[in-house]
Formats: sequence, structure tokens, C-alpha cells
Amino acid sequence: MNNFTFCIPTDIRFGKGQIACLAAELEKYGKRILMVYGGGSIKKSGLYDEVYSVLKDFEIEELPGIEPNPKLSSVEKGATLCRKKNIDMILAVGGGSVIDVSKHISCAACYDGPAWDLMMDRSKVKKALPVAVVLTISATGSEMNSGAVITNEDTKEKLEINTPLLYPVISVCDPSYLYTLPPKQTAAGAVDTLSHVMEQYFQPNDEAYITDALSEAVMKTVIRYAKKAMDEPENYEARSNLMWASTVALNHLLTVGKGGAWSVHPIEHVVSAYYDLTHAVGLSILTPTWMKYVLSDVTEKRIAGFAREVFGVKEADDRKAAEKGIEKVEGFLHSLGMPSTFSEVGIDDSMFDTMASEAIRTSGLSERAYVHLNKDDVKKIFMMCK
Ligand code: NZQ
Ligand code: ZN
Repeated sequence: MNNFTFCIPTDIRFGKGQIACLAAELEKYGKRILMVYGGGSIKKSGLYDEVYSVLKDFEIEELPGIEPNPKLSSVEKGATLCRKKNIDMILAVGGGSVIDVSKHISCAACYDGPAWDLMMDRSKVKKALPVAVVLTISATGSEMNSGAVITNEDTKEKLEINTPLLYPVISVCDPSYLYTLPPKQTAAGAVDTLSHVMEQYFQPNDEAYITDALSEAVMKTVIRYAKKAMDEPENYEARSNLMWASTVALNHLLTVGKGGAWSVHPIEHVVSAYYDLTHAVGLSILTPTWMKYVLSDVTEKRIAGFAREVFGVKEADDRKAAEKGIEKVEGFLHSLGMPSTFSEVGIDDSMFDTMASEAIRTSGLSERAYVHLNKDDVKKIFMMCK
């Protein structure tokens, strides 16, 4: 196993009714809150009113309307608001998009210059306002990690800022808030979770047995409960298992002892930056294709192990088991109604060349990924997804 450090300062409050703790916890940071939320789901579900009732003694400013694939302009708007209103802390009520904007605002508000500077040079992040989270979708793991993915609309770059100052101080994870999630968002969240685990599972170091075994358990959890949660939105067992799976999938636990760059995410981020595609839709299209592309004499053993442990494939021959595993991944994605080609989502090949260059330029794909990929490789993967 590689050396590692493991320190997650986020206080997780998991389960029904945990929002009740917020007032006492947030008081530690002051009285003036910037509440960040999305396009209205929290008003429909009643969570908006619940937050106000729990935080009745606080002064709350609002930044509503955060869009999926959140934009830099939202970050700038929030940072200006924080400075103008002398905000003490940020409360993100929503999913990955809302949380990521809140994290980027938290450091941009303490920085004298354009927020994108911090994305380009993390060493400029010296200070950040505390961010608290009320999670409403199980997907990104942003509630317990230090990353934030933001799109610069002008340059068409979708990049991640990641620094320990961006860990949320507290995250309320109440599975009953997921009951209102439509099946499509439930599926998207499950696919993103599965992909996060796979990105870490398929990395150069394969001696971290314990990490891989934990990863297999998380992947099996997603496969077991995703469809159930879509069919039975108020199934607490399914919602709670998926919620914790998505948090654990990307809180660094499943990467300890391993190391390397991710493979599918950096390719997908370029696609969603250019086409504003739902993150997990891009992952669904790219993941099986990437697996087929990297399957070789070198990788077949590991992919076969994945197939046997995660999908129960019974096949002694490694190559055949690996191929069956890829079919199982495709079958799982299909069962959730996810698309498998770019043409299904209206993407043609006109930007493949540009996007392939961008994927290489903005990631460690060519030097540190499980299988090193150059621009031509990425372009070929795009072509296979047509
Ligand atoms: O905006 P509202 O009206 O709230 O609706 C949202 C949104 O349309 C809806 N939704 C959320 N909770 C709901 C609900 N609808 C009904 N009931 C609820 N309880 O779901 C839609 C999607 O929300 P969003 O926050 O965009 O989803 P997600 O959590 O999947 O976040 C996706 C973003 O996170 C980035 C992605 O690239 C994408 O921009 N990622 C962030 C990561 C991180 N910070 O660690 C890692 C990921 O790999 C990912 O890149
Ligand atoms: Zn993701």
C-alpha cells in the first residue's frame, strides 16, 4: 500500500430529524448565514420552511437558483453578497451543485481578486468561511470532501478546486429528504456514486486489498438499492444505504493506500462543460466504452476480479470474466434507464477533437491514469460512444 494521511474534519449527522442540531452547531460561527439553494425543489418539498423554522434566530441572506453544472458567475455573485452583507457562514441546502458553489464562494469571499484565480492556483486559498450542508441528493459525496467542481462559462472549462479548507464543517444527511428525488435524479446519483468508486478501484496500485474490499461493498450497495429507490421513492432502507454509499464513495476512504489519476471523470467533465449534460449521463455513456478500450492482457485480471466480486460473475477465464463484467455494467446502467450513446443525447462528433485535447490538458490522464491515455485514445473512445 502507498503511504497516506486520512483526516476528514466534517461532522456528519445522519438520519431522520437530524436537522434539529443545526441551530446549536451553527451558532459557533456567528449569526449571519448565506443560504444557497437550487431551482426550487426545496420549496416544493417543504425543506425550505423547515430550515427557516430551525434557524429562526439567525439572519439569513439567500442565493437561490443554483443550476446543475454550476457556473462561475454564481460563485462571483455569492462572494460579492458575502462581502457586502458581512456573512459569517454559508449553508448549502441541496446537492453537489449547490454544495460546490458554496465551497467556492467560501474561499472567494475571503480573496481579493477573481474567484477563478483560486481554481487556477490553489495556493492562493488562504482562508474560507465555514460551509454547512443539508444534503438533498445522494450522488457526489461533496458533503464530506474538500472538492468543488465549477464551470467557467467563458472558457468552457469545468474544473475542480480541492483544498482542505473546503471541507464542510457539518453535513446533515437525512435520507427522508431524498423521497422527493425523481427516478432520473435517483439513477444519476447512483451512477455517479458507482463511478466514483470505480475511478479509485481502477488505479495503478492493486496491493490495497482492504481499500478494494471496502470499495466492492459500496459498489454492491449501489447495485442492490438503485432500482429499488427509483421504484419505491420512500423506501428508507434503500435511500439510507444509497445516501451513505455516496458519501463514503468520495470521502477519501476508498482511495487510501492507492493513488493515480481518475480516468472517466476528466473526460466526462469536458463533455458536460461543452454540452451542459447531466454529469451521470456522460458517465453512463463513457464508462463501459472506457472499460472496453482499456481491456488488455495487463488489465484483464483486475477487471475480472471486479466482475467476480461486484457482479458475481462465475467464470474462470480472466478475459471472459472481464468481458462479462463489462456487460454487467452495461446491463446495470440500462436497467436504470441511462443512455449509452452520444447520439441519444444529441451530441455529434463536431467537438470530439477539441474535447479530447481539453481532457488531456486538464487532467492526469496521459501520465497517472490506470491506463495512460493520450489525445488519440480519448478521441477513439468518443468515436466508440457515437
Ligand atoms: O435545483 P433543484 O430544484 O434543487 O433540483 C435539483 C437539480 O435539478 C434536483 N434535486 C436535488 N435534490 C432534490 C432534487 N429534486 C427533488 N428532490 C430532491 N431532494 O436534482 C437536480 C440535480 O442536482 P445537482 O446538485 O446538480 O446534482 P448532483 O448532486 O449530482 O451534483 C452534480 C454536480 O456535482 C459535480 C458534477 O460535475 C455536477 O456539476 N460533481 C462534484 C463532485 C464533488 N464536489 O466532489 C464530484 C463529482 O464527480 C461531480 O463532478
Ligand atoms: Zn462524479
